[in-house]
Amino acid sequence: MSRTNPPRLRRRKTALLAGALLGAGVMTVSTLGVASANEDAQPLARVDNPYEGAGVYVNPDWSANAAAEPGGEAIANEPTGVWLDRIEAIDGGSAGNSTGLREHLDNALVQAQDHENFVFQVVVYNLPGRDCAALASNGQLAPDDLATYQSDFIDPIAEIIGDPAYADLRIVTVIEIDSLPNLITNVSPRETATPECDEMLANGNYVNGVAYAIEQLGAIENVYNYIDAGHYGWIGWDDNFGASADLFAETATTGGASFDDVHGFIVNTANFGPAVEPYYDVTDTVGGSSVREGSWVDWNNYNDNQSFAQAFRTELVSKGFASDIGMLIDTSRSGWGGPDRPTGTSTATDVDTYVDESRVDKRFQTGNWCNQAGAGLGERPEVAPAEGIDAYVWIKPPGESDGSSEEIPNDEGKGFDRMCDPTYEGNPRNNHNMSGALGDAPISGHWFSAQFQELLANAYPPL
Ligand code: BGC
Repeated sequence: MSRTNPPRLRRRKTALLAGALLGAGVMTVSTLGVASANEDAQPLARVDNPYEGAGVYVNPDWSANAAAEPGGEAIANEPTGVWLDRIEAIDGGSAGNSTGLREHLDNALVQAQDHENFVFQVVVYNLPGRDCAALASNGQLAPDDLATYQSDFIDPIAEIIGDPAYADLRIVTVIEIDSLPNLITNVSPRETATPECDEMLANGNYVNGVAYAIEQLGAIENVYNYIDAGHYGWIGWDDNFGASADLFAETATTGGASFDDVHGFIVNTANFGPAVEPYYDVTDTVGGSSVREGSWVDWNNYNDNQSFAQAFRTELVSKGFASDIGMLIDTSRSGWGGPDRPTGTSTATDVDTYVDESRVDKRFQTGNWCNQAGAGLGERPEVAPAEGIDAYVWIKPPGESDGSSEEIPNDEGKGFDRMCDPTYEGNPRNNHNMSGALGDAPISGHWFSAQFQELLANAYPPL
């Protein structure tokens, strides 16, 4: 099915709403051409880059946590993602999600009053059998519970977002982190397989769930769906790259969904890989060997998220996605500043020493993902920072944990994943390296003050 979006007349902004909370974040605009929308006369069709010329919603829940921290004021007005990570989060009131979706959107209308255009960023994250290769964010829906996902999660979200009261907002939806990439890399017969990912591949519920989400949300003309596409240290290898793009294309045309429902893709959501590795490249050769032969790059075709996102965009277009899809990069924790950051390219002639001395990413391995020690805030949110990239965004709210470092009973569907335990020596998915996680971490989504402080201290660019 192919759907077009009929132009709609832009309505004049409604009367002032009471209770304005915060000034909205304004992104650094690195390109010219900020739109000056003509109220009343302009049709409000989807624009190519929703971030262009737009303010972006500051989540008051996260902002209050950040502002309460020593030094946190410096970033408390940055826009971060609103996470709908379980059914209860739609109405709010639960830990880490005290504000419900409708209330957030009402706040957004207030913040939008200072801007011609305004973006609201929301993460849709509650697939059946969620997070099949890890335990920290397993979620609340059983692997076969597609019907509940559709009726109790996606349908209510679509109903709220589709309310004409919010038609002037540009609603950016980040669709289902980590799900589809898991079906490529963490299934049999690979050594990295988990029984849970095998089950989700076999039952089709990640594909069906994502297809349903993009179809329902994509039918709302001011929604911009960006599907999560993992990150360079996951999908960058030849074995994973084309196969992932094929799976995205298959998913986008499953059921009633179509390529038109996809505005773009996001990479590095809640992860730690740099947007740009400035001091070495995968094409470098050292002492007669390619850096790809070394243990860090390990035959990957990319060494940072921006080069990966640009190439993956081209790959996706070749599989049928629109030629103008855009990419987002989550840079909330991709900065690697502080005293250990290299300041130039190594002069070593051995590949491993050369890469280790040149790389800014100080993880033990690119498969490490939980509360990484040494990480800092990355690039601040920015519009159109590079070709093909719609924006650098902060989707993972910095300071919210990725998972507890030891078992903590809870009623949020959060398990204990050893990748969040600093003493863990790894598994096939991180090539048996130490986890690199910080200790004393609370369950995922909960405030982790010590991590927030480290992110401020190691921010790059520095604050
Ligand atoms: C957690 C969510 C949380 C999100 C943002 C995820 O890892 O599972 O509960 O809302 O991170 O912090």
